[in-house]
Amino acid sequence: MLTVTDLHVSYGAIRALKGLSLEVNAGEIVALIGANGAGKSTTLNTLSGLLRPTHGTVSFEGEDLTVCKPHEIVGKGIVQVPEGRRIFANMTVEENLHLGAYTRPGGDSLGAEREELFRLFPRLKERLPQLAGTLSGGEQQMLAIARALMAQPKLLLLDEPSLGLAPVLVKEVFAALERIREQGKTLLVVEQNAKRALSLADRGYVIETGTPVLTAPAAELLQDPMVRQAYLGEDPEPVSPQPEDGP
Ligand SMILES: Nc1ncnc2c1ncn2[C@@H]1O[C@H](COP(=O)(O)OP(=O)(O)OP(=O)(O)O)[C@@H](O)[C@H]1O
Ligand SMILES: [Mg+2]
Repeated sequence: MLTVTDLHVSYGAIRALKGLSLEVNAGEIVALIGANGAGKSTTLNTLSGLLRPTHGTVSFEGEDLTVCKPHEIVGKGIVQVPEGRRIFANMTVEENLHLGAYTRPGGDSLGAEREELFRLFPRLKERLPQLAGTLSGGEQQMLAIARALMAQPKLLLLDEPSLGLAPVLVKEVFAALERIREQGKTLLVVEQNAKRALSLADRGYVIETGTPVLTAPAAELLQDPMVRQAYLGEDPEPVSPQPEDGP
């Protein structure tokens, strides 16, 4: 579905991506794991057309995205849920959802998926007239995802969906992502919470300072000693004591 090949992206003199390649197949959940500053948000922002690569190709269903404007990319079915949620705080929940629907052919009506959305996020239904800025952090994250779904994406890009959420809400958001996949969507998820992301995902990529270092099925990455130590916060295997030599 999506093929990224040898992507290079710079901010002036700062080279944020140095040869990133990745693939996402239809129906998959793919996790992108990396430390702060590794280039995860840069990757998603390049896929959405907000940043232009200096080198490399991005192909989505056979079309080159590097020549497309952000709204054209949304029109092709790639929608990003940005880091930090970025809902419209001074608009109601309902108005935020209408804005999400704006780009699609049928216009901004909430349409048939409205009920489906409320099954996914019952909390939002109760809060339609509420100003989005007064929602709790977790509710804002759900609204950001719901708004993205209103655009009827084929591929949903999620930047740190669990950031700043209490564990119970993290669980709720990840459960919603699982259900979104069951509805036939494809997901590329960027996460600091590597354990959760890899538990959800089919495959994962680990990037370090803009370069891919490891890719494997998510279950294998969860068992990988380097991943466990660097991204799952686990101590390395204790070194077994050497038998002492006699005098
Ligand atoms: N607008 C910008 N101008 C200059 N440098 C930037 C800009 N945005 C990001 N960078 C740099 O590019 C690199 C990659 O940043 P990016 O935001 O993609 O990292 P990230 O993996 O999303 O990190 P985090 O987990 O902290 O969100 C970092 O070194 C960062 O300082
Ligand atoms: Mg980021």
